[in-house]
Amino acid sequence: MTAIRSVVLGCGSYLPQRVLTNAELAAKVDTSDEWIVQRTGIRQRHIAAEGEFTSHLAINAARAALAHAGVDAQSIDLIVLATSTPDQTFPATAVAVQNGLGINHGAAFDLQAVCSGFVFALASADNFLRTGAFKRALVIGAETFSRILDWNDRGTCVLFGDGAGAVVLEAQAQPGTPSDRGVLTTHLRSDGRHKGKLYVDGGPSSTQTVGHLRMEGREVFKHAVGMITDVIVDAFNATGATADSIDWFVPHQANKRIIDASAHKLHIAPQKVVLTVDLHGNTSAASIPLALAVAVNDGRVKKGDLVLFEAMGGGFTWGSALLRW
Ligand code: UT7
Repeated sequence: MTAIRSVVLGCGSYLPQRVLTNAELAAKVDTSDEWIVQRTGIRQRHIAAEGEFTSHLAINAARAALAHAGVDAQSIDLIVLATSTPDQTFPATAVAVQNGLGINHGAAFDLQAVCSGFVFALASADNFLRTGAFKRALVIGAETFSRILDWNDRGTCVLFGDGAGAVVLEAQAQPGTPSDRGVLTTHLRSDGRHKGKLYVDGGPSSTQTVGHLRMEGREVFKHAVGMITDVIVDAFNATGATADSIDWFVPHQANKRIIDASAHKLHIAPQKVVLTVDLHGNTSAASIPLALAVAVNDGRVKKGDLVLFEAMGGGFTWGSALLRW
């Protein structure tokens, strides 16, 4: 038996040059490096320059992923871009990326699932590739959350940062066994009853403004670990993988305490956890591919490794993906 799998050919990322430290934030709002590090694990975050848009970050990450994969942009026939901070209300930022890469065939669209965006985008691209609708996809998470933060709200402005990450996926025939390379399973969930706990207080249809991010942090925290671990158990049940058999856990980087608690609950060994929240802050849909690129570039993630992604965010939305590198 053979199966079509979405195999990762390469990954890449991009961070804006400007680094904003906790100490700089403490000079602006009533907070401290100690509070931010203790409660979140964040030490710094990157902030896009004036005139630097989500599409620019995404194009840089996409180019890095294409170079890492060793494939030409012209071979891409699908771009799925996860973002909650598009350049404009429309057209999709994905078409700006497509144009920036000089591609004018295939399809490009944005996907909005806030911090879960990358997992949702990966699952969507995987489904398109497995049906044969497309052959080679760029899946990108790119955000400029600095543009939607209320810089006077210490409860949120210390948490988020800007950045982008991307992977190149290719539809390949694999033996159809658990040792296949590529995406092995994805699990997506949403529950709109929680839509008021993490949201932006503006939008084209409601206020005709962009708005600012608002969050009941403690409420989000309360649900996070349970939701994350639920969808990871789904991924384990679907594949027979276990906390012991996975090689790397690349979670959404919102808060080190959430990541530690989730890994602990699932009995995932701490040395398998890829952590970048200290350096990047919460970059929403970009956080998983940013962390992945770090672990691939420093040689941790190697061909054949079993890699687990999870994310949870506004909506609420949450999801997991398990793949073999
Ligand atoms: O990526 C999407 C998903 N998002 C998340 O996963 C975020 C989930 N939530 C969290 O990570 C945490 O809830 C936060 C990091 C946002 C907050 O941590 P917490 O331990 O839940 O703190 P808290 O909200 O319960 O606040 C504790 C105290 C409060 O003061 P009082 O009421 O105890 O006097 C806050 O006013 O800390 C205060 N506080 C701050 N103090 C210094 C809130 N923000 C700050 C700050 N600096 N930046």
